[in-house]
Amino acid sequence: MDDLKAKYLTQIADAGDEAALEAIRLAAVGKKGEVSLKMRELGKMSPEERQVAGPALNALKDEINSALSAKKSALADKALDERLRSEWLDVTLPSRPARHGTLHPVNQVTEEVTAIFAEMGFSVAEGPRVETDWHNFDALNIPGHHPARAEMDTFYMHRAPGDTRPAHVLRTHTSPVQIRSMEAQGAPLRIICPGGVYRADYDQTHTPMFHQVEGLAIDTDISMANLKWVLEEFVKAFFEVDDVELRFRASHFPFTEPSAEVDIRCSWEGGTLKVGEGDDWLEILGSGMVHPKVLQAGGIDPDRYQGFAFGMGIDRIAMLKYGIPDLRAFFDSDLRWLRHYGFASLDVPTLHGGLSR
Ligand code: PHE
Repeated sequence: MDDLKAKYLTQIADAGDEAALEAIRLAAVGKKGEVSLKMRELGKMSPEERQVAGPALNALKDEINSALSAKKSALADKALDERLRSEWLDVTLPSRPARHGTLHPVNQVTEEVTAIFAEMGFSVAEGPRVETDWHNFDALNIPGHHPARAEMDTFYMHRAPGDTRPAHVLRTHTSPVQIRSMEAQGAPLRIICPGGVYRADYDQTHTPMFHQVEGLAIDTDISMANLKWVLEEFVKAFFEVDDVELRFRASHFPFTEPSAEVDIRCSWEGGTLKVGEGDDWLEILGSGMVHPKVLQAGGIDPDRYQGFAFGMGIDRIAMLKYGIPDLRAFFDSDLRWLRHYGFASLDVPTLHGGLSR
């Protein structure tokens, strides 16, 4: 028994890791371990022999077990010390620029647009992306049979047969936020509404989800001239040029009367876009004077108030300003693309500090 004790206590003291310790435990006091086998022999002994050997074997077993657990916690302490020594971190080091996340161009441009219009007294309004078809169409003077519903490639929300709740769509434009803002705030009103919109369309310049910003100004003395001035100020500030020429083309939207699409003078010389010079025109938005029926739908008296509205593609003006050729890449979540076209997240665009440094 003394030999067994000496043998196992030495082995335990020499064990290098937990696996070695477990092997020793099995060999000594496991079910088929040496000490356990000796204990089985007690049955064959005379009562006198058993009285001596029994307690001695039990004591041996206890001693080995407590040596095992002492060694186990010593090994764990040692491993922890090792980790504390190797896994340290200097929290006073500056962070690595490459590890910073970047702002997506859509967010950057939304911030830029917001900064410019905020300076002109517009506040930001938002509405739901899942919209009632009343807000998205009817209230905007687009009744059920109107061809504009088909043109917009609308995504309709599924309805169970017999469901009598109002029909919902994924909003096809930000114009329903005009109605929601009129309902919530009344007149006068001066807001922009940036956000995601949906149409079933997919090619180099169309994705099923994209972004618009709506503008709406309502008061007792608003005219088309105000619209023109606001848009000119916006385009100059956004494209960071001193002068721009806008072209208002007569157009048609059910929710504005008169309606105009707005182009800006530009050149594509050498394959790059320059705003404010050249012989080309580029369409950037739709606009007009809010239709009296739309004011009425929003609960505003059209005999007393009138206003202008416009809707612009955020992704589109982002592509133009930053020379991004394919819209689909905006929504691929490709890290290399995001690092290339992304913006420093801490440079908040302001008119005085610079929009796009
Ligand atoms: N909602 C229109 C569109 O998505 C844009 C628009 C908004 C036109 C406001 C006029 C006034 O095409």
